[in-house]
Amino acid sequence: MQTVDAVILGAGAAGLFAAGEAAARGRSVVVLDHARRVGEKIRISGGGRCNFTNLSTAPERFLSANPRFALSALRRFTPRDFLARVEGAGISWTEKAAGQLFCEGKASQIVQMLVGGAEAGGAQIHTEVSVEEVTREGELFRIATSDGVLFARRLVVATGGKSIPKIGATGFGYRLAEEFGIPVLETRPGLVPLTFAEQELGRMVPLAGVAVPARVAPTKGPGFDEPVLFTHRGLSGPAILQVSSYWREGEAITADLDPGRSLAAALKAARQEAGKGQIGKALARHMPERVAGLVLDLAGVDPVARLADQGNAVLDRIAAAARMELRPVGTEGYRTAEVTLGGVDTAALDGRSMEAKAVPGLHFIGEVVDVTGWLGGYNFQWAWSSAWACAQAL
Ligand code: FDA
Repeated sequence: MQTVDAVILGAGAAGLFAAGEAAARGRSVVVLDHARRVGEKIRISGGGRCNFTNLSTAPERFLSANPRFALSALRRFTPRDFLARVEGAGISWTEKAAGQLFCEGKASQIVQMLVGGAEAGGAQIHTEVSVEEVTREGELFRIATSDGVLFARRLVVATGGKSIPKIGATGFGYRLAEEFGIPVLETRPGLVPLTFAEQELGRMVPLAGVAVPARVAPTKGPGFDEPVLFTHRGLSGPAILQVSSYWREGEAITADLDPGRSLAAALKAARQEAGKGQIGKALARHMPERVAGLVLDLAGVDPVARLADQGNAVLDRIAAAARMELRPVGTEGYRTAEVTLGGVDTAALDGRSMEAKAVPGLHFIGEVVDVTGWLGGYNFQWAWSSAWACAQAL
């Protein structure tokens, strides 16, 4: 029977990175994953290019019952620190939007870097192993698996959240926390498309595939200036995914297609210059034609009506209709959510080591913890930072 310094459950972003860092510090490490392939979420992330960090990382870019919790780990292992690893591995990268760093090539390069780092330090990675039972035996953790029993001085739970069960996500980490008496805050899907009731959906479906820039805001929380994408099921696109993490059942969101408040003035000026044209065509200069049709529908204005015939009140009404208040009825759920909100209560963890205060030697890192980033590379940065902080304590 093998006894090691640390067993890490989950060979995803946080687990693989923690394994490499701990192994580099001379610790004997075994990583266990039930999936056939390690790092599967990394591989599919960022459209296959992995948005591996964001240079604007700051506690405000995370949702948590205690947003300050993440600060220590994020400060000790920063986006620049991870970037140095990426460059050290010879992986070329590119900055897409401000601060958002992606691989120039395939996301699998990041997986290779992490696996290479772990194996170089002597960490063993075992896939297709299911963990049957975890118990405490004196100072050690006893981990009964489908491959036999292991003992470890420390146990690191890096099994991620519930999103995308198809590629191996489970609620295992939350259950394990509860078995050890560690509180888990309610979990729900985040960074996920929103769904709508029949009437609103009926207006959206004909626009499926159209994207439009907007400022989208939840009832409580920040607004996001990013594109909204109409789909057959409702709304998606970066702005909607961001807001979905703040949205609660029963609440409305606003999708403002005129955040600069210039639309009414622009339509009035157009009436002056080219009033013979149709109002629909005039509005389509400011947004995709099909979206303009939706706004006019909401404003109760015929798109083929002459712009010249519209009074100021009508043009103001059109601009007001472009500030849409929408009532989602739900989300697409864990099937398509990029992350899981909630999770292991940070109040039960030490922010320097990610160790459970009440269970010495038991650590939680990555998405299983109640720290969830915005879209844009923040979730991977949390995985790296929390893994690094934990590895220093192994
Ligand atoms: P992660 O999910 O990476 O790993 C958990 C591991 O545990 C998995 O390998 C799983 O098989 C294993 N596991 C689960 N249950 C187990 C059990 N019972 N026994 C053994 N093993 C078990 N973030 C970002 O910053 N930039 C991006 O570009 C993207 N893009 C993106 C796209 C898509 C489609 C998704 C779904 C998500 C993203 N994300 C992202 C989010 C990011 O992928 C996520 O936050 C991190 O992978 C979390 O890292 P963890 O290591 O915590 O979990």
